[in-house]
Amino acid sequence: MGRIAYVNGRFVPHGEAVVHIEDRGYQLADAVYEVWALFDGKLADAEGHFARLERSLSELSIPEPMSRRALTIVLKEAVRRNRVRDGLVYLQVSRGVAPRDHAFPAGQVRPAVVITVKAVDRAAAEARAAKGVSVVTTPENRWGRCDIKTVGLLPNALAKQKAREAGAAEAWFVDELGFVTEGASSNAWIVDGEGRLRTRDTNANILRGVTRLTLLDVIREEGLQVDERPFTPDEAVAAKEAFITGAGTLVLPVVSVDGRKVGDGVPGPVATRLRRLYIARAKATAI
Ligand code: PDD
Repeated sequence: MGRIAYVNGRFVPHGEAVVHIEDRGYQLADAVYEVWALFDGKLADAEGHFARLERSLSELSIPEPMSRRALTIVLKEAVRRNRVRDGLVYLQVSRGVAPRDHAFPAGQVRPAVVITVKAVDRAAAEARAAKGVSVVTTPENRWGRCDIKTVGLLPNALAKQKAREAGAAEAWFVDELGFVTEGASSNAWIVDGEGRLRTRDTNANILRGVTRLTLLDVIREEGLQVDERPFTPDEAVAAKEAFITGAGTLVLPVVSVDGRKVGDGVPGPVATRLRRLYIARAKATAI
């Protein structure tokens, strides 16, 4: 890696280059990046990379941190300061620094910009090219591992923002078969027409919510019937009640889905009771 990095307007020694712990790129993968190859100190395919960068930023509604002209100057200055002729320039632009919240920060937040430069041994690269390389195959699972509580939360952040813009508190993801998987930061539940609790099973591509698991215990202790079985948004609307669970929301009644009332459109007795029971249990067992 080169010796000088660019971080938010300043060139700093690489070893001292740091970003804020609440940078949304760090916490939510709410960021984009580009990599240019360098030939003789010059940016290869510059136009294509700038165009894709601008598209990526625009797709995420992250403002351009500076004009293309200004960015070119900063990228070239980073290359010059690192005295790299053949190598790579890495640029990352995050939505910026804001208190952790999935939805976009309110008000103007300056995008955070990081640039690093690294040298490449072209002779070694050519030798490798002359020999050729092998590949292995792997299932396309980007990102089919929602069971891992990773900070790769960009889809969740975008979903939460969609909810916020619609005046809602949470977004429920719906899979290709039309079933609700879970919320952007919570698990999803209903109390169906027969009074049975329903939440998606954890063999599905969802996070194994700890609150969900504890609540399943509470539900069984209460002698209530529960099915770990998916439901559709229509079933949620036709249900008696709906609610979400998570460390952030605990047990939170849901009164509408996509603008359609659930039950009477007010928190139902089961969710209200489960909230009380969950909080009591959580308080009693907290260490
Ligand atoms: N989110 N599903 C997703 C995608 C979540 O991010 C969360 C929690 C849950 C519920 O898990 P638990 O009951 O273990 O908190 C389900 C936390 C609260 C967050 O990101 O802020």
